[in-house]
Amino acid sequence: MRIAIVGTGYVGLVSGAFFADFGHHVTCIDKDAAKIAALQRGEIPIFEPDLDRLVQNNVKNGRLDFVTDLAASVREADAVFIAVGTPSRRGDGHADLSYVYAASKEIAAAVDGFTVVITKSTVPVGTGDEVERIIRETNSSADVAVASNPEFLREGAAIRDFKFPDRIVVGTEDERARKVISEIYRPLYLNKAPVMFTGRRTAELIKYAANAFLATKITFINEIADLAEKVGADVQEVARGIGLDNRIGSKFLHAGPGFGGSCFPKDTRALVKTAQDHDAPMRIVEAVMAVNETRKRAMGRKVASVFGGNLRGKTVGVLGLTFKPNTDDMRESPSIPLITALQDLGAKIQAYDPEGMEQAKTELLNIVYCDGPYGCAAGADALVIVTEWEQFRALDLDRLKQEMACPVIVDLRNIYRADEVTAKGFRYESIGRNSQNAGV
Ligand SMILES: NC(=O)c1ccc[n+]([C@@H]2O[C@H](COP(=O)([O-])OP(=O)(O)OC[C@H]3O[C@@H](n4cnc5c(N)ncnc54)[C@H](O)[C@@H]3O)[C@@H](O)[C@H]2O)c1
Repeated sequence: MRIAIVGTGYVGLVSGAFFADFGHHVTCIDKDAAKIAALQRGEIPIFEPDLDRLVQNNVKNGRLDFVTDLAASVREADAVFIAVGTPSRRGDGHADLSYVYAASKEIAAAVDGFTVVITKSTVPVGTGDEVERIIRETNSSADVAVASNPEFLREGAAIRDFKFPDRIVVGTEDERARKVISEIYRPLYLNKAPVMFTGRRTAELIKYAANAFLATKITFINEIADLAEKVGADVQEVARGIGLDNRIGSKFLHAGPGFGGSCFPKDTRALVKTAQDHDAPMRIVEAVMAVNETRKRAMGRKVASVFGGNLRGKTVGVLGLTFKPNTDDMRESPSIPLITALQDLGAKIQAYDPEGMEQAKTELLNIVYCDGPYGCAAGADALVIVTEWEQFRALDLDRLKQEMACPVIVDLRNIYRADEVTAKGFRYESIGRNSQNAGV
């Protein structure tokens, strides 16, 4: 198969590298000339564990290349994936489909012979219909089938997720498209990955329903955590106690500072908008968004409460800036409103993140960036753990205490045991774990 992928971001690059690894010939296309030039030099523009090796191997064996010009590779392709961004539209929260539609026009002008156009970007229900309409309007002789194939990979674990997906969802009613897409994913069939063929609109809705459900699960346990703190219960034990019930499941039940990232915030917003437009409002998801939004600044007040609500003159060290570990992605990270809230309360911020500091510099101002966790603790009145990077899980507490002006740890990911931290002489606050039990 010859595959062209339009948009070489997280999804486009990971998918492209895997399709090449499956034995197909893949060209990844992007408008961003600097990104393509970097990839052509062998540099990977994002941090994703093991992606570099996968890309390099497939470039070396001649199955993967990178270009800015769409026309030539689309002309030769059996399948064209659209993997451009679908951020929230400014002002109303709908998905901004301008990149998808612009790509569709360019693809329409270039296709030659039967071509399957597959939307991998997360797009609202009905977008496939519009992509098809645009292609037919732009090029009435184009022989295309438009399918939906939403992507479920998680940043930070994208390689594993692509190789061992829980399922592959393909939305198409076109038999020729079904054949081509089945051929593309054949190696995963052999891995026994469940492949689900559905109508195009159903596939589009599956993606939003999945993300909204996961966002709901996180928000639910966050509210249980707040209640647990008030009533003297331990949210981690509650999560385990409910998660062992197969009907509930243990994943996505970790209480924390609220969800962020490149998908959940924008996808919940877009789903709510779609639902409103169809007079089928999604009150649960609306509540999830509202609860999550207020939570991030509330975490700033939680830190301040250790000092009687005022952080004037205090220095706060922030460990972890990205929205989750193993990525450099700062999009809608909860660290952004949290740090702004701390600054509003008067704190000076020093921060460290293993991979996210370059991106953070464009989002967060007036921060001292440090070269490691101990540098981040130096002179600090409190250390706040925002992202649970592996390297933060076993810090030398004696050394931290020596570095800090005041031994206070606020652990927003519950990665430490309260008794161990307090035994070292720290004041320790965490999420949804009773402070008396925590020995504070
Ligand atoms: N990031 C994730 O973990 C993830 C997971 C599942 C689904 N998705 C969805 O996949 C889509 C892409 O997400 P991403 O995180 O990879 O985005 P991204 O912003 O990292 O990458 C998108 C790329 O598309 C390029 N682009 C835009 N218009 C183009 C055009 N006309 N021609 C060529 N290139 C063009 C941009 O320059 C950019 O490099 C989104 O809809 C997202 O919701 C993302």
